[in-house]
Amino acid sequence: MYAQVFYATAFTSQSPKEVTVLKDCLFCIDDNGIIDRIVHPEDSDYTAILNTYKDNDAFEHIAEGSYLLPGFVDLHIHASQWAQAGTALDIPLHDWLSTYTFPSEAKFADVDYAKMVYEDVVDTLLANGTTTALYFATVHKEASVLLADICAKRGQRGLVGKVVMDLHEECPDFYRDLDTQMALKDTEDFILKVKEIAKTAKQGVYPVVTPRFIPTCSDEVLEGLGALAAKYDTHIQSHCSESDWAHQHVQQRFGKNDAQALHDFGLLQDKSVMAHSNFLSDEDAELFAETGSAIAHCPISNAYFANSVIPIAHFAKMGVDIGLGSDISGGFSPSLYDNSRQAVMSSRMLEDGVNSRVSPEERGVSNSRITIAEAFHLVTAGGGASLSLPIGRLKEGYAWDVQRIDTQIATAKLPLFDTAEPLLDVFQKMMYLVRPENIRDVWVQGQHVHSRK
Ligand code: GUN
Ligand code: FE
Repeated sequence: MYAQVFYATAFTSQSPKEVTVLKDCLFCIDDNGIIDRIVHPEDSDYTAILNTYKDNDAFEHIAEGSYLLPGFVDLHIHASQWAQAGTALDIPLHDWLSTYTFPSEAKFADVDYAKMVYEDVVDTLLANGTTTALYFATVHKEASVLLADICAKRGQRGLVGKVVMDLHEECPDFYRDLDTQMALKDTEDFILKVKEIAKTAKQGVYPVVTPRFIPTCSDEVLEGLGALAAKYDTHIQSHCSESDWAHQHVQQRFGKNDAQALHDFGLLQDKSVMAHSNFLSDEDAELFAETGSAIAHCPISNAYFANSVIPIAHFAKMGVDIGLGSDISGGFSPSLYDNSRQAVMSSRMLEDGVNSRVSPEERGVSNSRITIAEAFHLVTAGGGASLSLPIGRLKEGYAWDVQRIDTQIATAKLPLFDTAEPLLDVFQKMMYLVRPENIRDVWVQGQHVHSRK
């Protein structure tokens, strides 16, 4: 017997350019929240399975006008920065960090304050269809453990990092790891505590080794973090080559690019996800591809802080794993729908160029565009591959992480007037027009974690 059977029409990414329509299929979910089978109407046992389950409590008929999509994967989000989302986006990264962000993150020394913000960010992400998130917390061990606990209890798949930043040149005394050895000890304690919490969370909650970025970290701490990640086989996250300033800072310190420096400290491996990575050279990108490190592309944030547009299509062609990140609050929107839309728009601007005063031939970078189907790939299957987890696809052996999109609600009705409209057109309309109001149910690992009346 299956734990649940859903009768639905759904969409999943088959390959970067190809979306598959699963029309009127039966999705059979096992006790662990894994897709055991997807039964198609043409399969010989379709009617028998339908008849067995259709009057059973385990059966859920997703009515016409609603469609299932895989839950989205946010590959880069600062949970703590939810408190300052939408603030001060007009100033350069370095000033934004020191004037706004570090004082704001310092408040997470207060665990009650942290609880209020973290519960809200997890709920907000689930309501936006984000079923997995790779989180930066803050330097504070206790509040960071609390974030993992909130993910566990709310049913979100959370990968959580206690931020490490120990270099006093770039970090204020009121907000940094004051002692390098203590930063490493706190990270190790954090890893062990989150591993304990993970035992209570069927959907998976994971500790992540999290040097903020090279400019805020000593050589000693970077080396120690590389060793801890290897010892406990954890995911790793950081910021890599984000802006002119960050890129040049690392060049001046090491005479090499961020990617090479991170690699030298043992921080580029299969479970590494590097935010932004806008200024990767082809050599750096090869290093990503060889080590299995992934890029968290943050298109909204990049429009503010990057001083460039990342050539995402080029890096994908080189075989680098890529997913999307909201980068709250460098990006203002918690919605990965908004970020998917921006990913497409930014890529088109890179291809076509932005300066209408020069001739068309001289403007842009050819072969840079991505389609909305490719953005959907990034935000689902690409995110899953980047984290080396079986998520982001509606496929046997993958987790039942799903969002139900109702296209017909009065306040957020999608313009679908023709019942014969091709389903792939419906898919595109959803990617461009869905609002949180349309996201009516969300499941993670088979557990129902969000509903909107
Ligand atoms: N680089 C180091 N820290 C941060 C951060 O919090 N946000 C962004 N966008 N870039 C960073
Ligand atoms: Fe960031």
